[in-house]
Order: sequence, then structure tokens, then C-alpha cells
Amino acid sequence: MLANLSLRTKLSIYVGAAISVAVALCIALFIFHAATRINSESESARRLANDFIVSALPSINQLDKPEAELERLIKEANHLRHARIYSSRTSVQEDTGNSLESPPNWFTRFLTPNSESREIEVVTKSGFEDKITIKANPADEITEIWQEIKWISIASLGVISATVLIISIVVSNTLSPLAGYVQALSLLDAGKRTLTVAGDKTPEFKIIADRINGLSQTLSKLDEENHLLIQKMITLQDNERKEIARDLHDEFGPALFMSRICVGELKKKITISLGEDKYLNDWSAVDQNIDKLQQVNRKILGRLRPAALEEMGLSGAIEAMIKSWRKTDPSVEMVYYFPEEKLTMTEIQSLTAYRIIQESLTNIYRHSHATKVNVSLFLEKLTPSSQLVISVEDNGIGIGENSQDGIGLRGMKERMLIVGGELKISRLSPSGTEIKALMPLS
Ligand SMILES: Nc1ncnc2c1ncn2[C@@H]1O[C@H](COP(=O)(O)OP(=O)(O)OP(=O)(O)O)[C@@H](O)[C@H]1O
Ligand SMILES: [Mg+2]
Repeated sequence: MLANLSLRTKLSIYVGAAISVAVALCIALFIFHAATRINSESESARRLANDFIVSALPSINQLDKPEAELERLIKEANHLRHARIYSSRTSVQEDTGNSLESPPNWFTRFLTPNSESREIEVVTKSGFEDKITIKANPADEITEIWQEIKWISIASLGVISATVLIISIVVSNTLSPLAGYVQALSLLDAGKRTLTVAGDKTPEFKIIADRINGLSQTLSKLDEENHLLIQKMITLQDNERKEIARDLHDEFGPALFMSRICVGELKKKITISLGEDKYLNDWSAVDQNIDKLQQVNRKILGRLRPAALEEMGLSGAIEAMIKSWRKTDPSVEMVYYFPEEKLTMTEIQSLTAYRIIQESLTNIYRHSHATKVNVSLFLEKLTPSSQLVISVEDNGIGIGENSQDGIGLRGMKERMLIVGGELKISRLSPSGTEIKALMPLS
């Protein structure tokens, strides 16, 4: 039940309850002690009153009219605390005390001793007879005890309130650095690494602040390493692709070409020497297979190192890529816009732009279920330089809120970092995704 309450409330409740229980115990002990005391005080008061009256009786016995003297004696004896003395001739007046301050009945009943009253028979020589009764009457004492308990309770309430207030203030002040730590952890979670949490003098909090600062440094180092690794991987991948493409182009391509020429020559020679072309079908099959191999080789070359990029420039290469996707899936409508002005780009910039569009389109065909794709490139003139804005939009299902970056998106981001640019990924309304790459051009 208390689990969801704040630490401050919990501490206030626990300490308040502990003080209340302690005060209740003290009051209970106080009442039990008072009960014993009242009992013995009442008993001694009755004995005293009894002795007082008994010692006065011999002189009263001598009187012919003892009523007045007896009344005076009873009045005097009533000055004793905790005893009520009356005769059968006088009316009994119970001492109820001040009604406002008088304790409740259960309290009076609990503290009043149940000792029996004493009675003294008075018989004088003149034949006068009376009966004096002595009863325990601790009403004054009980009222005083009740008042004390009331004041103790009020004082305790004051102490509990003050304690709870002090706890609230102390806990709030002590825990105030926690808000800063939570904020720092949220920033770390959001990817901000260069943060330093101010230390606190409290040793427990100092440790937490040191750990958060340590965590921030470790994460920043890991990010840096990760960044370098991915950049290295991309560079290695590009170099590897370049080498394989070169081998395919320089070794495999000419070998296939030569094979085709040789097969053609051989066919001619055999046809001439045998004077017939009964092997024509076989020659055609070999020739077609070599042709197929050449086509596959060109396709692989295109993927590894977009030859189109070198041959047709960025605009032509992108157009060729879009054409190829249109052929693969004609149901997707593709719109393409390329700026009129000539773009002056380095090899790495062109390759980056090409790869960004290539991965964006691959993702669209793999994940988005889009029916419309818009690829546009435009030059944004900024002073002193300008930047190329590459935008690939689709009307598909959109990137999921919690979707994790794969090698594709991470690679795009890293490629953009290498050229000093930035990649923005956003969900479109009502649905779809936009990949926007901002690449500075010098
Ligand atoms: N245009 C898109 N529409 C919808 N979801 C997308 C789109 N592009 C990317 N995603 C989501 O983002 C995720 C990450 O994409 P990313 O390209 O990084 O990895 P991948 O395509 O799954 O694998 P690979 O590393 O081979 O590229 C995808 O798995 C997909 O869920
Ligand atoms: Mg991908």
C-alpha cells in the first residue's frame, strides 16, 4: 500500500507512527501508574479521615446537642483530599468537578478504586444517633490526570507535526540532486554524451555523480570507437568492392569476351572444314551461355561499382537505377527530379549520394509496401557554400517508432558524416517515410 508513495511521505508516516506509538505507550504507563497511586492515596485519605473523626467522637459524646459540632467536624474532615465524608443527616453531594474539564466516564471508572466505604456509628450519652460514612473520592486527582494527558497529547501532536515538517524539508533538500541525475541519465539515453553531473558533498550521491560521469565518458568513447569502426568498415567495403569490380572488369570481362570470340572462330573453322553446320545449335548454346555470363558480370559490376556513375554521371546513374527498380516492380509509381544546373562533386560525394538513394530504394522495396516513391535532388545555395539536398519519400507504412537501425541506415548516417553532412529520417503524415540527406558541396 505504501510502496507507491514518495520517500518523503513514507518517512513522515513511519516516523509519525513511531512517535505516536511511543506517546501512546507513555500515556498508558502514566495511567496505570496513576491508578496505583490514586488507590493508595485514597486508602490513606480514608484512614486519615477515619482517625480524625474517631479521635473527635469522645468529646462529641459528652454534648447534649451534638448536631452542630458533628456538622462542623464533617465539614473540617471534608477538607481532606480523596475522601468524601457525610452523615446520614447531611445530603451527599458528589464532587463532579468542572464539567468542561471533567474526564469521560470510562476514564473516571478506570481510575476510581473500588474500595468499600467505611461507616462510623455515632451514639451520644443524650441518646443522639447518627452514622458517618467515609468514601474514597479521587475526582480531583482524576481530573488533574485527565488534564495532563490532554496536554501531553496536544504537545505530542505538535512534536509529530514539527518532526514531519523537518523530515519533509530535510528529505527534499537531501534528495534534490536526484532530479539532476535522472535528467543526466535521460540525456545519456537520448544520445548526448558530453555531460558532467555536478558532484554533491553527500558521499552516497557523490558516488552516483561520479558513476554517471564515468558512464558518460565510457559511452562517448564507445560511440567514438563505433563511429570509427563503421567508417572503417564502409571504406573497406568500398575498397573491396572496387578491387573485386576491377578484377571482374579487367580479368573476367576480357576472358569472357575472348572466349566468345574464340568460340565464334572455332565455329567458323569447323563449319568450313566439315562443310556443314549440324552443330549450329550446340554453338549457339555455348555462345548464349557466355553472353549470359557477360550480362551477369555487368550486373555485378554495376552493383559493386556503379559503372554508370563514371560513364553517365550521378544523374544518369540514378536514372538507370530507378529504371531498373521500375522494371523489377512496375506497380510502384516512381517520380524523379534532378537539378538543372551542373553539380560539381568529388568522387566520394557522388558515390555517397548514389549509395544513399540505392539503400533508401532497397529499404522501400523491402519494408515499406509503398505505392508511390519520390526521389528528388536539389541544390540549396547557402553562403559561402551550397548543399545538395537528397530526398527520398515514400507513402508506405512508415518507419516504426521503435525500429532499430540496421547496417543500412547506420551506413547511410556514417557515409554522410564522412562527407560532413547529415541524415534526417522522418515519418510522413498520414503515412510514409522521408530520408533526407544534406551534403555540403564546396
Ligand atoms: N522506407 C521504409 N519504410 C518502412 N520501414 C523502413 C523503411 N526504411 C527502413 N525501415 C525500417 O528500418 C529498419 C532499419 O533499416 P536498415 O536499412 O537500417 O536495416 P535493414 O534494411 O533491416 O537491413 P540492412 O542492414 O540489410 O539494410 C528496417 O528493418 C525497417 O523496419
Ligand atoms: Mg536496409
